[in-house]
Amino acid sequence: MVNQITWHKPDPPPSVQHTTFTHAHETLIWASKGTGARRTFNHDPINSPDPASQVSSVWHISTVPKREKLHGYYPTQKPLRLVRRRALLASTARGHLVFDPFTGSGTTAVTAKELNCFFAGAELEGEVARLAARRRTASERGGLLREISERFWTDA
Ligand SMILES: C[S@@+](CC[C@H](N)C(=O)[O-])C[C@H]1O[C@@H](n2cnc3c(N)ncnc32)[C@H](O)[C@@H]1O
Repeated sequence: MVNQITWHKPDPPPSVQHTTFTHAHETLIWASKGTGARRTFNHDPINSPDPASQVSSVWHISTVPKREKLHGYYPTQKPLRLVRRRALLASTARGHLVFDPFTGSGTTAVTAKELNCFFAGAELEGEVARLAARRRTASERGGLLREISERFWTDA
């Protein structure tokens, strides 16, 4: 295991029956094939130039905003800020293959397209797979790469 990451949700859904703590975090596991195995880690696009404020393994990211649900409601949809701006931006390069065996509403599928990666996924529920397809169709190939390169040119 390379990193175990805690996604902390500052705005967790309330515990409706008041019988549990609110579910305010999820765990991401970043694993590789072994200690010597090659892996990608794009430090610069996810970190500020200040070494004192490097991104840690605890990520404070809000739950899915309404604007990401325009193509349909899906209860366990993950925020693009989590998958796009952090997980896949950090760990993939243009042309990589992203495989998501539990595609759901397709957040990884959208992100892979925006990062110019290939994508393969599996999803049991037909209606959910169609939602993923709608979201992916509406996304822009290479869109995130373009956004990032524009930001670097503007900041320079
Ligand atoms: C937690 S959701 C994925 C959420 C996704 N990351 C997103 O942003 O929408 C898990 C999905 O895996 C699907 N699933 C569960 N078991 C599966 C299996 N054996 N093969 C394919 N899909 C499966 C479920 O139908 C569900 O939509």
